[in-house]
Amino acid sequence: MQVTANQVQGPAIHVQGLEKSYKKLEVLRGVHFDVARGSIFALLGSNGAGKTTVVNIVSTLLKADAGTASVNGFDVATQAGDVRQSISLTGQFAAVDEILSGRENLVLVARLRHLKDPGTIADNLLDRFSLTDAAARRVSTYSGGMRRRLDIAMSLIGNPPVIFLDEPTIGLDPQGRIEVWQAVKELAGHGTTALLTTQYLDEAEQLADRIAILHEGRIMVNGTLTELKQLLPPAKVEYVEKQPTLEDVFLAIVGDDGKNGDAGNDRSAGTDK
Ligand SMILES: Nc1ncnc2c1ncn2[C@@H]1O[C@H](COP(=O)(O)OP(=O)(O)O)[C@@H](O)[C@H]1O
Ligand SMILES: [Mg+2]
Repeated sequence: MQVTANQVQGPAIHVQGLEKSYKKLEVLRGVHFDVARGSIFALLGSNGAGKTTVVNIVSTLLKADAGTASVNGFDVATQAGDVRQSISLTGQFAAVDEILSGRENLVLVARLRHLKDPGTIADNLLDRFSLTDAAARRVSTYSGGMRRRLDIAMSLIGNPPVIFLDEPTIGLDPQGRIEVWQAVKELAGHGTTALLTTQYLDEAEQLADRIAILHEGRIMVNGTLTELKQLLPPAKVEYVEKQPTLEDVFLAIVGDDGKNGDAGNDRSAGTDK
């Protein structure tokens, strides 16, 4: 690939001061974050918080009103072609062909990308994502978790350094979610950088090296799970210390059902970035 030379240093994703409005609705009001190479970063937020809007901007599908973003060292506004060469995007809806088998889907994409030996590429990915037994079956017979895993496998064809996973487990049953989590962990083991969006706290907790909470158009907190938990003092019950969960942190910042959204203002003082 030609997308390597000057891209060795710096974060895989750099986002600074992003703003985006849809008419009068201010969705992003100055979003900043960096994602280190080879890490999994979770953008956590409620429905409508603007997660997909961020993903669409950094994947060049949407123009920001203000601010800058770069992926793999390339500016999303001025070097969109290079950005697209560096990424793959797995959307909220799996993009696999139902009529083809899992293996045929993978071979098709490898052919479309003019890669050598599509069959071997397909077989390796089937193996990596535990789909070998189902390889010859039509995708229409797959479970939701299998489909999503196939979707992630397809997005890895051509080895993009950065992958965007927009709510990868939405609508899956618990077993399917666990299968997809394993697939995402598998990505990180291979050095791929992943930006994951989710509204599920346990998903962020399970998968992410760093978690950023997007709320009211801004990143309210950004840190490792341990750092986020330290934002709240441990609650003491007699002699038993209870560590705050990510859920406690999230609710303190975002509020319960949005009804008391200012509940966490004192907590986030000095922590937003
Ligand atoms: N094309 C659009 N036109 C108008 N409003 C939009 C459009 N896309 C998203 N929105 C609104 O922007 C807000 C953020 O949307 P989105 O980024 O999809 O949130 P999330 O992915 O966190 O659920 C929502 O209120 C949504 O209704
Ligand atoms: Mg979304």
